[in-house]
Amino acid sequence: MYPEIRMRRLRNKPLVRKMITEYSLSPSNFILPIFVKEGLEEDSTPIESMPGISQHSLRSLVDECHQVSELGIPAVMLFGVPKKKDAMGSEAYNPEGIVPTAVRAIKEELGDRLMVACDVCLCGYTDHGHCAPIDGENILNDQALELYAKASLEYARAGADIVAPSDMMDGRVGAIRNKLEQEGFQDTIIISYAVKFASSFYGPFREAAESSFGAGPKDRKSHQMDPSNLTQAFREVELDLEEGADIVMVKPALPYLDVIKALSTRFSVPLAAYQVSGEYAMLKAASQNGWIDGKESMLETLLAIRRAGATMILTYFAKEAAEAVK
Ligand code: PBG
Repeated sequence: MYPEIRMRRLRNKPLVRKMITEYSLSPSNFILPIFVKEGLEEDSTPIESMPGISQHSLRSLVDECHQVSELGIPAVMLFGVPKKKDAMGSEAYNPEGIVPTAVRAIKEELGDRLMVACDVCLCGYTDHGHCAPIDGENILNDQALELYAKASLEYARAGADIVAPSDMMDGRVGAIRNKLEQEGFQDTIIISYAVKFASSFYGPFREAAESSFGAGPKDRKSHQMDPSNLTQAFREVELDLEEGADIVMVKPALPYLDVIKALSTRFSVPLAAYQVSGEYAMLKAASQNGWIDGKESMLETLLAIRRAGATMILTYFAKEAAEAVK
């Protein structure tokens, strides 16, 4: 015989719910990804598949960063949209390119009030849309490493606090870390997109970054992880930590909560999760149709990602969520 079991005792009053809360959200958990487009004049251009998100001009980028910082969000992640693309993605590592220029503009105004992270990859800068140079159907892993290192160095020189290689080539974290050390940037943080799956949830990002496939393979399956694997994620993280990553990331987030959980119990480094463009678009579309509550579903997914073990979340909801929880 037991006394009557009543879980309700712990739920039926707001204060008791507050008292027993295990996981919560704070603006400091979020990083906002931002697209900055070369040659855009004053205004920003909305991205159709990501309601509420725009490509920014340098001016609107700085305004956006002011708002982000005032909301208590510690960092933004910059993606550049260059004017011209070529086979080697040379605008990615041009010191006068859009990203270094944007970093300088933000740092000039905001200094240490906002950290600037830069996505490091070539896919937004190559005319074939791949993350590395290609030869026919082959992705040239080793030829890309020096280019990522050069790009990272230029971003660090411009004042970036964080570089975040997202290409999934082997050896890139080591190449970047060595270059940064050689050039005196010992304090630059590397967030590695260590566990990045070949996912269909990156769809809207193609519009945002103006990146689509031309020549070469039609997917990224030769270098991004297969969604049918978990244990490979451990190996990816081990390698990136050995090579000098400070923070590792899982991407996408919601379909891979089990991966986040497994990594968070196994490794003692801060873990980031990227709630990607397709996750954002899905929630926005359903809420705009009135099928789900936008704010509640946003907070529920973010909380789930935190509960799984992510310390920080890259999310296009960063501003909206910060406003909702502050
Ligand atoms: C570039 C990169 C991608 C994303 C971030 N960095 C696209 C891809 O790898 O195919 C996706 C981000 C998003 O969907 O929000 N390597």
